Amino acid sequence: MSLEKIAGEIRSCKRCPLHASRTNAVPGEGNPKARVVFVGEAPGRNEDLQGRPFVGAAGKLLTELLASIGLRREDVFITNVVKCRPPNNRDPRPEEIEACLPFLKRQLRVIDPDVIVALGRHSALTLLRLAGREEERSIMRIRGKVFEVELFGRKRSLMPTLHPAAALYNPKLKPLLEEDFKRLKELLGEDNEGKGLEAWF
Ligand code: URA
Repeated sequence: MSLEKIAGEIRSCKRCPLHASRTNAVPGEGNPKARVVFVGEAPGRNEDLQGRPFVGAAGKLLTELLASIGLRREDVFITNVVKCRPPNNRDPRPEEIEACLPFLKRQLRVIDPDVIVALGRHSALTLLRLAGREEERSIMRIRGKVFEVELFGRKRSLMPTLHPAAALYNPKLKPLLEEDFKRLKELLGEDNEGKGLEAWF
């Protein structure tokens, strides 16, 4: 199973009504061997037009946050829970998330990351539920926490953080995102037994 095959299936998917209004499905992109996968909510307007994840304003902030801890977009893998844009950027519906989730699961199995960063509440709750952990519903309480979860046959670290778009609406939230990315950097260093980020990529 390759990421390209999964992406092909996503591009021709008609499992939920979102296919009818999409310009492009957005499978995700990045390093197929990434140690870290970022999972957002769903594509927005720019992503739908380009078929690429996080290429609008929120994406610019995500790229900056990555750079702040020495990572490039091509070092990591970036995707979303839902691969097609919900009309007018409304929240994805539970049945749309369910229909799309097998794609994310397959992507995570193939990439086999050590760390999964959930961007925003929807992604965090979906991934915690996948891991059988439904303890906390407020993103403000769980952001920056590292959950050691059992997913797809082994232990992985799951760190929820705020959605970058939240910090665009409310700039006071930006320092919290920056803090969480510092935590991520520490986590990568820790798991690497102090060898530094270089050894990861
Ligand atoms: N917001 C998301 O959750 N995902 C994207 O790809 C872009 C914006």
